Amino acid sequence: MKIIKTISELRTCIQQERSFSKSIGFVPTMGFLHEGHQSLLQHARENNDVVVLSIFVNPLQFGVNEDLDRYPRDFERDEQIATKNGVDILFYPAVAEMYPKEMPMTITVTKGVDVLCGQSRPGHFDGVATVVMKLFQLVQPTNAYFGQKDAQQLAIIMNMVESFNIPVTVIPCPTIREVDGLAKSSRNVYLTERERIEAPFLYKTLQEARALIQAGETNRTKVVDMMKRRLAQGLGQIDYVEVLSYPDLEIDDTLKGQIIIALAYRYEHARLIDNDIIHIK
Ligand code: PAJ
Repeated sequence: MKIIKTISELRTCIQQERSFSKSIGFVPTMGFLHEGHQSLLQHARENNDVVVLSIFVNPLQFGVNEDLDRYPRDFERDEQIATKNGVDILFYPAVAEMYPKEMPMTITVTKGVDVLCGQSRPGHFDGVATVVMKLFQLVQPTNAYFGQKDAQQLAIIMNMVESFNIPVTVIPCPTIREVDGLAKSSRNVYLTERERIEAPFLYKTLQEARALIQAGETNRTKVVDMMKRRLAQGLGQIDYVEVLSYPDLEIDDTLKGQIIIALAYRYEHARLIDNDIIHIK
């Protein structure tokens, strides 16, 4: 596995691979890799000649009071996980390499940002879209792998690819969970012991909402209220609970077609998100 820290070296390497017409599978991450990230790497490994992993904690997508400085990092461990999962190129740039000066131009996401994490983290998805656009230009992937755990991010990246005609296929990958149902996340390490024991109730609440809808409940407000009542019993605080159409992310009171049940929940040192996507005829 090659570890590359500079854009110029990455360009040379990618040019070489492309000259042999090799397919490139790309997994962008912020590191502190867990089984969720590894599942994306496995999908990439199975379906491409070359696998590129990027590890970059992108300052542009963190708000002023968010956890940029505290975001967990462990490069040595990540390097081992990357090797074990068959990564060919690990791109690990410094902030100054990606942003040598203030960006004179960035992407503004105009659809699907007035809800969910877009509402509670203003500017977050502009930062995500901008860095993913840069990474796509650098890696020039054939296929790029994103987790459904971040369903809003996935929808926005798909819109970006369509809007700018980027020649990449975005492959959605299912959410990987702990045995008790808690969605794997780099931020789970910040849960206290009591919070960690409680946290699977987030997924259980999503499942209850799914069951309610599948049993014929068509009143969106009733589903949201049920979830709010459940979550209000926990140790943390509700950031949002929502039921929307997916991937359009619009309020649709009929609860038909593909819908997302989504929540964000604040524990003392970690804000967790989770969702469930279901299809109702
Ligand atoms: P990060 O949170 O490191 O996640 C990297 C990728 O792993 C994303 O596509 C995310 O959806 C996926 N992922 C995380 N947890 C997962 C789980 N439990 N199951 C399946 N996939 C999971 O998302 C980002 O980084 C950044 O915003 C990034 C796209 C890299 C841009 O900076």
